[in-house]
Amino acid sequence: MNTSTLKTASITARLASLGSERWAVHFDARRRIKAGQDIIELTIGEPDVPTPEHLLDVATGSMRAGRTRYAEGRGEPVLLAALAEKYSQRSGRQVSVDNALAFPGTQAALAITMMGLVEAGDAVLVPDPYYATYEGVVRSTGADFVPVAMSADNGFHLTPEQLEKAVTPNSKVLLLNSPHNPTGATLSRSEIEAIGAVAIKHDLWIVSDEVYEPLIYNGEFCSPFDLETLWERTIAVSSISKSHAAPGFRAGWGVGPAWAMRHIQSVSETLLFGGQPFIADMTAHALSHRDNTAQVMGSAYQRRIQVLKSAFAENEVLRPLEPDAGMFMLVDVTASGLDGESFAKQLLDHGVAVMPGSSFGNQARHFIRLSLTVDETLLAEAARRMVSFTN
Ligand SMILES: Cc1ncc(COP(=O)(O)O)c(C=O)c1O
Repeated sequence: MNTSTLKTASITARLASLGSERWAVHFDARRRIKAGQDIIELTIGEPDVPTPEHLLDVATGSMRAGRTRYAEGRGEPVLLAALAEKYSQRSGRQVSVDNALAFPGTQAALAITMMGLVEAGDAVLVPDPYYATYEGVVRSTGADFVPVAMSADNGFHLTPEQLEKAVTPNSKVLLLNSPHNPTGATLSRSEIEAIGAVAIKHDLWIVSDEVYEPLIYNGEFCSPFDLETLWERTIAVSSISKSHAAPGFRAGWGVGPAWAMRHIQSVSETLLFGGQPFIADMTAHALSHRDNTAQVMGSAYQRRIQVLKSAFAENEVLRPLEPDAGMFMLVDVTASGLDGESFAKQLLDHGVAVMPGSSFGNQARHFIRLSLTVDETLLAEAARRMVSFTN
């Protein structure tokens, strides 16, 4: 308890319950594992393959070559050029270095972009379920966090009607995530066009979180940033955390209209004062060289999805929602009579740690989320324990 007359700012109160509380089951599992309990951890999305050697070589070589000085505030020219090339190729439009901004990971890109776009009095529309940090990203700015209820009936694909219903005069940004965490839903071009029409009608920005772009099993990637009608209101953010199994490098970026990126740069420079040149070199290399890490991970995740599906096939309680993409699978546990949180807490005593759906919003509260980042043998054992828990 604070007995001092000193106070912290309201941002700390707004964020107080949005951080580690969402990961309570995960931290409890880690504590128990450390104490010697046999628990299979299917909680967070940590790639289970190493960061590719060629990227480590570039990072260490670059560090030894003296690339340890201050970086350019916008990002190192080599990285901005690689981003301009990637997004020009992807969109078929001329994307320039002025459209790009380097960030230490997608998380920072999301938070700083949001700070650059909204403030108290504004509202940000966030399709629910949503990635666990989004509420903090929005609330840190003082803006209202407005969940847009999606439905399990269509695999949690956001519809224009659902979005339209949630829009108010204060709505300023739609925070879109496709492929989506935790559902794995991947929006098609026509779905994004229809959602985009609502964004145009109400003059909304679209912040598009695209970290799972290279991990799609069903459907094709589409970004509003690649569409002629939407790119001028879109800021796309991503990183090499998932695509190159490199989350610890904190190597991310944002791309959007040049004028807006210039404004957001001032927020970014205030918070970061640039990044690490050797990580910029590594990220540029990752973006401009062929690499099969995402393919290897994607094939493994697809095999693991099948392991879980066949393990649960005869079970009346565990109803998996097959993901289009990503490294997670949602499982509906309504038939257990428990909500996802109670289910996850009790399952921990049976040797499996999963995330409660409620960590990802209200619409996922009857689900649990399983991470696909353990090998097939261990995953099959986890599935066996889950089936036995429900019997
Ligand atoms: C949807 C989504 N966005 C952002 C992130 C964070 O990515 P980064 O490591 O690039 O900050 C994650 C990580 O799990 C995620 O699932």
